[in-house]
Amino acid sequence: AIFPDRTNSRGLNMNIEGLRTPFFQELARLADRQWQAGPVVGGKTLTQGSANTVVSPQDHHRQVGRVHFADQATVAQAVGRARAAFKGWRDTPVEQRARALEKLAELLEAHQAEFVSLCTREAGKLLQDGIDEVREAVDFCRYYANEGRKLMAEPTRLPGYTGELNLLHAQGRGPFVCISPWNFPLAIFLGQVAAALVTGNTVLAKPAEQTSLIAHLAVTLAHQAGIPAEVLQLLPGDGATVGAALTQDPHIAGVCFTGSTDTAQLINLTLAKRQGAIVPLIAETGGQNAMIVDSTALPEQVVRDVLRAAFQSAGQRCSALRVLYLQEDIAERVLEILRGAMKELSVDDPALCSTDVGPVIDQGARAGLEAHLARMKAEGKRIIAEAPMGNCCDKGFYVRPTALEIGSINELEKEQFGPILHVVRFKAKDIDKVIDDINGTGYGLTLGIHSRNESFADQVAKGINAGNIYINRDQIGAMVGVQPFGGQGLSGTGPKAGGPHYLSRFITEKTITNNT
Ligand code: SER
Repeated sequence: AIFPDRTNSRGLNMNIEGLRTPFFQELARLADRQWQAGPVVGGKTLTQGSANTVVSPQDHHRQVGRVHFADQATVAQAVGRARAAFKGWRDTPVEQRARALEKLAELLEAHQAEFVSLCTREAGKLLQDGIDEVREAVDFCRYYANEGRKLMAEPTRLPGYTGELNLLHAQGRGPFVCISPWNFPLAIFLGQVAAALVTGNTVLAKPAEQTSLIAHLAVTLAHQAGIPAEVLQLLPGDGATVGAALTQDPHIAGVCFTGSTDTAQLINLTLAKRQGAIVPLIAETGGQNAMIVDSTALPEQVVRDVLRAAFQSAGQRCSALRVLYLQEDIAERVLEILRGAMKELSVDDPALCSTDVGPVIDQGARAGLEAHLARMKAEGKRIIAEAPMGNCCDKGFYVRPTALEIGSINELEKEQFGPILHVVRFKAKDIDKVIDDINGTGYGLTLGIHSRNESFADQVAKGINAGNIYINRDQIGAMVGVQPFGGQGLSGTGPKAGGPHYLSRFITEKTITNNT
């Protein structure tokens, strides 16, 4: 085989009617199901106290279910159980841990329609995004299962010049906190959890409060797959209560976080101030992602990739394109095609196959994006193009996909996490300044380059501090094990998710020297 190690899931090919029809029948059956979730501690879902109602981002009147949030006492109880279960799990052979993840991957595929339905209804994701989400979660489980075996099945034997036996062992660290975002409510949630589990840590998982139902289903399946109840605890709730209680706890052994840069810095501070061991923080945060297009690029291809990078998933990917730099000789042609293409975007109900852009996650997200657009307009920025809004848009949290022109990336204070594209024109002679400006933001997540000039593409790729660089394609949708994902500087600590070094931050090492 050309790719002997290929483990990536194939998802669902919607072009095959025999697969598509039963999938849609299943989605129709699930369309009104009411889901319940709560903290899962010791394998039991706790339902005491009041429950929060979950509504769809695309329609505030459509209820998806109810979720009970954890309080501080529940967090303390869960940490106690995770501590008690640690030694047993650490000493469980990695093969057994890896097999449980592989079983979980099978269960995720078997429950694909439920996850896609929930991704659409709870997170406002498009159907295709939901399918890709399950696929990525499956990939993470299988990839980390294999990486775990490579890292931990046998200790590494090192030289022993005087006859000593030197062995380097890798083992779990302890109760690991995994805090995940709503934009990949299954894939990132399970990616973190799978990495922590396979390396022999017990896990306290806090999903984003907006997507607790998806996380609850995933944890239920993980337990069915053979992850012991005491080894994985779920703590839905908000950051101020659950996140704070977890990160302040002196007994936790590490934190894996994906979300905003501000929250990552707060966690870093909390960890530094608390009593207890110095523990690792693995943070994957925001970006101010650019694409640079020179005059040798193909305009139609540029626009295709810009649409995908800026507007797919309503721009709610940390990899998404925020600032498009166009060399002045090609700018008008690209913008003309972009204007036409944006008029054709369908902004509508995410459950329709014809929809290109769905809602943003909640009222707060919409308000922030609209305030940014209002500010840009008040400053006199030129609107290049706007997409038409579909009929259902007044029922939910929709933001109009918009492209507008600015002078430089420096004019943007922070990342705008939604379907807003900023365009900057530049002169060929100013490319060094463009590179400096982009690096000057301090972020370094993704970068797109469109050019047929290899030395130009090389110069830009070498010059810009970004974790993931894509040449002559869009800059989203990193594939597990193929494009390890993660940034630098304000965009995160590394190591990269879905890459061969990721698990190294979840372990501790022991060198045992035996003078036999
Ligand atoms: N891994 C995701 C992507 O590459 C992150 O947003 O799009």
